[in-house]
Amino acid sequence: MATSTSTQPRDTWGSKLGFVMAAAGSAVGLGNIWKFPYTAGESGGGAFVAIYLVFVIFIGFSVMLTEFAIGRKTGLSAVGAFKSTDRRWTFTGVMGVVSGLLIMGFYPVVGGWALAYIFKVGGGLLSAPSAIGDSFGGFISDPIQPIMWMGIYLLMNVVIVMRGVSGGIEKAGKVLMPLLFVILIIVSVKGLSLPGASAGLKFLFTPDFSKVDSSVVLAALGQAFFSLSLGMGCMMTYGSYLKKKENLVQTTGMVTAMDTGVAILAGIAMFPAMFAFGMEPAAGPGLVFVVVPQLFAEMGGAIGILLALLFFIGLTVAALTSSVSLLEVVVSYLIDEKGMKRSTAVLSASAVMSVLCVFASLSLGGIGPTLFGTGAFDIFDLLTDKIFLAVGGMLVCIFAGWRLSKADLEKEITNNGEVPFPLFGLWYNLVKYIIPVAIAIVAIMGIKSGFDSGKGAIMLLGIGIIAIAGLFSKKF
Ligand code: TRP
Repeated sequence: MATSTSTQPRDTWGSKLGFVMAAAGSAVGLGNIWKFPYTAGESGGGAFVAIYLVFVIFIGFSVMLTEFAIGRKTGLSAVGAFKSTDRRWTFTGVMGVVSGLLIMGFYPVVGGWALAYIFKVGGGLLSAPSAIGDSFGGFISDPIQPIMWMGIYLLMNVVIVMRGVSGGIEKAGKVLMPLLFVILIIVSVKGLSLPGASAGLKFLFTPDFSKVDSSVVLAALGQAFFSLSLGMGCMMTYGSYLKKKENLVQTTGMVTAMDTGVAILAGIAMFPAMFAFGMEPAAGPGLVFVVVPQLFAEMGGAIGILLALLFFIGLTVAALTSSVSLLEVVVSYLIDEKGMKRSTAVLSASAVMSVLCVFASLSLGGIGPTLFGTGAFDIFDLLTDKIFLAVGGMLVCIFAGWRLSKADLEKEITNNGEVPFPLFGLWYNLVKYIIPVAIAIVAIMGIKSGFDSGKGAIMLLGIGIIAIAGLFSKKF
């Protein structure tokens, strides 16, 4: 039944730890350290964080387990996994590949900023703390510099993914993830030691539900999906490389916990310091690039510079282990379904991504085409984060719940009954009924409120794209 054109035996992960670290490496990235803090800041803090956590536990965990199970069961990447079961579902996989391309249309831009900041810190950025904010604004709106850094960053992705899953991705994840964790703890301790820091903790952890509207709820759902790498077949693709004897439930639990832990830690690293410095929590996408250098400048001396260097190295590496997973989704589609050689697949995918990234980067300086008044960077982010990932996750659940057999899923998740999963019934009902309905409600209300902020047209465009893909699903 499988329509895969590749006949070689599938590469698998070198070790259990290797897989967990690679999947956690995919999950932990700019989503946790760059996106989570500024989205929480813009969305009012505590209530957003609380809703996000509820979504992670009830929706994120279940969807990740579903993606791992489907990926490992079919042994195919996003498109093939659906296609081999039912051709009508192929579009869900194709949507995932499109989401991967679109996320990679802005992710490497921010990855490039992180890379650039290693050199900026080395070049004396911290010596003029009051200029750090303006320097960031000037840098990202420059038409040339950020594009250069993006190019270098994307090239690093190409090199890693060329070498294949168990070579490049796995090693990068294993060595560099723990480093980042340690750095974040140091940053947090420093931030918490500043006078007035406790207001930041209060902002982050005391929910004020009067600030919540449907756009905040949709932002929390989008953040949960984005941060956990869900809703586009990424974890499905990683799962397809997973050995049959590994414990899926445990792996899902570990990856979810690590990802959420890092996001919360990033919040603790940033908000107390911001409040101590008297900065605005709603400072937007520049937050980590402004607050963290200021924090280290405050520390002063060689230690401040050294820690800032380590932080941006860690951030770049975290971003890399995530973006290679996005690139891998597109690449494995081209290999499995289009019969391309890995090197051709990597080069063609990254060529498209680099063009999208140029538009995204230029749009931050106000250059280039806009749609309904929104630039490329924001369009790619809105379409994926607010629409495609959540709808993708919903479709994955509907597919698992209504198209696959319950018995097969139970066999896959319990390794033919070898590892018990007492909550199987709960998981199954969540996936079959509750999650699809919950996502539909959040998405519809979020899109409605998107109209009030002028973003509704783009969201509708996203829905239109999905509908068209669905109509032509047999063509893919
Ligand atoms: N989760 C990653 C981050 O937090 C980004 C990412 C990697 C992603 N793979 C994905 C997001 C798949 C959505 C889908 O930075």
